[in-house]
Amino acid sequence: MDALFGCDGISLTLAGRQILHKVSIATDPGNILGLVGPNGAGKTSLFEVLCGRYPCDEGSIYLKGSNITGLPFLKRARMGLGRTYQSPVVPTTLTIGETFLAVRKARKPYLSRHDAEWAARLVHLHTAWDTPAAVLGAFDRRKLLLACLLMREPCVLLMDEPASGLINAEIDELDVIMRRLVDEYGISLVLIEHRLELLSAVADTAVVLDLGEVIASGTPDQVFADERVKAAYFEA
Ligand SMILES: Nc1ncnc2c1ncn2[C@@H]1O[C@H](COP(=O)(O)OP(=O)(O)O)[C@@H](O)[C@H]1O
Ligand SMILES: [Mg+2]
Repeated sequence: MDALFGCDGISLTLAGRQILHKVSIATDPGNILGLVGPNGAGKTSLFEVLCGRYPCDEGSIYLKGSNITGLPFLKRARMGLGRTYQSPVVPTTLTIGETFLAVRKARKPYLSRHDAEWAARLVHLHTAWDTPAAVLGAFDRRKLLLACLLMREPCVLLMDEPASGLINAEIDELDVIMRRLVDEYGISLVLIEHRLELLSAVADTAVVLDLGEVIASGTPDQVFADERVKAAYFEA
């Protein structure tokens, strides 16, 4: 595969049910690929396969020219594949600063405090570092987790519904942050969002999943005009 990151023909069975049917996606540096589809379409399951938490039945996953299909989660992460989750779960007993310290120490050679300050600035996390992570609101939790990921300098970020739980002004700010990751750092984002209208503002490419199958892909405008997409969304 020539693309920076992608998968080819991924199928997945969970508990005896086929969840994904030959799904293929591909994306390049500095691109935002939006993965959309109704609830239960298989978006999160695809992320589980891509990041290495679920083994797939068939198909291949590629990163920077290597076939990573058989690699464990941590190896993929070390190669530059980052992933965020729909629920922003932060450490319950650590402050923001202690959370950053844990990330710094996990990296060999250790990262400096400067690396954490850089990441915090990049995600607009302005809350004092002695604040316990557990008291943070949804947006600050997302910012903290994203900053921790950025300290590892990923080349691809899989983000599962990053706008969920945020108010409109926060979603606008998140768009600005994501744009910067893409434009200044060349990171490739794969973004799950079940609200079609939110994607059109940010995504270069949209892929629509329905019942575990890709039913459309192209620019957001092309995809939103597609009859199968309208049927999946509005006539379900
Ligand atoms: N661990 C699991 N075991 C069995 N079925 C699952 C599991 N995870 C998800 N599913 C099923 O897979 C389908 C797709 O779920 P999911 O990937 O979470 O969809 P989406 O993220 O698009 O809302 C759903 O029908 C869901 O019930
Ligand atoms: Mg999901």
